[in-house]
Amino acid sequence: MSDSITHLRFPAATSPFDLADDRAYQRWREWKLSDYPGVAEDLIVSVANPFRLTPAEKQALLSRCQKANAAIYRISAGDFADKELVGSLGRQFGLVRLDRNLRADEDSITSLKVVPETRGAYYIPYTNRPLNWHTDGYYNTPGEQVRGVVLHCVSDAAEGGENVYLDHEMAYVLLRDENPEYLAALMQPDAMTIPANTESGVEIRPAQTGPVFSVETHSGSLHMRYTARTRSIAWKDDRNTRRAVGFLAEVLAGDSAFLFRHRMRPGEGVICNNILHKREAFADDPAGGRTRLLYRARYYDRIRGTELNTIWSGVRACSG
Ligand SMILES: [Fe+2]
Repeated sequence: MSDSITHLRFPAATSPFDLADDRAYQRWREWKLSDYPGVAEDLIVSVANPFRLTPAEKQALLSRCQKANAAIYRISAGDFADKELVGSLGRQFGLVRLDRNLRADEDSITSLKVVPETRGAYYIPYTNRPLNWHTDGYYNTPGEQVRGVVLHCVSDAAEGGENVYLDHEMAYVLLRDENPEYLAALMQPDAMTIPANTESGVEIRPAQTGPVFSVETHSGSLHMRYTARTRSIAWKDDRNTRRAVGFLAEVLAGDSAFLFRHRMRPGEGVICNNILHKREAFADDPAGGRTRLLYRARYYDRIRGTELNTIWSGVRACSG
């Protein structure tokens, strides 16, 4: 895909995510689908020094994030295990407010690898089992939603561990095209409830209720919280929510052209606006020195320059 994007041509007061404004939606949809990356390789940008991106590298990454909400960097050489590079990359895209989740390391960046059971709890991210579709931090409070994520591969598994991604805005398009009422259902403030997290009888995180899709007031951007888990989740008990959730599950289990498959190699990483993703099972080979290790940073910020309002104001400047 191209390293620059064509800006949207809209009046600033309208929103493509307003279900009552089909015209705005259709215009945005047309923009969204034009020059949309066809395969994960289209998202890859080679980077010489992650601590100091060149303007061309930064623009190439940003344009992919503006269009598809994700880009994949590929560092050619250096110390892939240097954790500092994750924070540094994030900062170059305005990602600064780190989410401190329960199992993050002290620097709030999580090392994802197979670890023995901790504190009597069993967490699939720290096993080699498949990880079903989700957005990160879907159980977070409304004020601590995860909008940006950097996922960096230090070392890959001997086998497996592929990631599959779906831009949450494409999920929106597929749902709205199928039936706008599905979106009305998923935008309800009580569409999805994650029950409290309790360990050994102690509540370590309260229940969280919220919408699947929401529109950020200050940026105009679409945000999504979702998990495909079927246990420990309570969907709103109405017909359209059930049908919408079922349709989305079908899309995610299918072979939509918008699904990106990519198996990260050492030195590669994803920078994204917390799009939908899943992980296939993998097998480590510690004796052979092939043990999967990823660093993950979650942010309350979106990637700077990908806000819908930024793109729109760019249009006004461009088109007069
Ligand atoms: Fe995740």
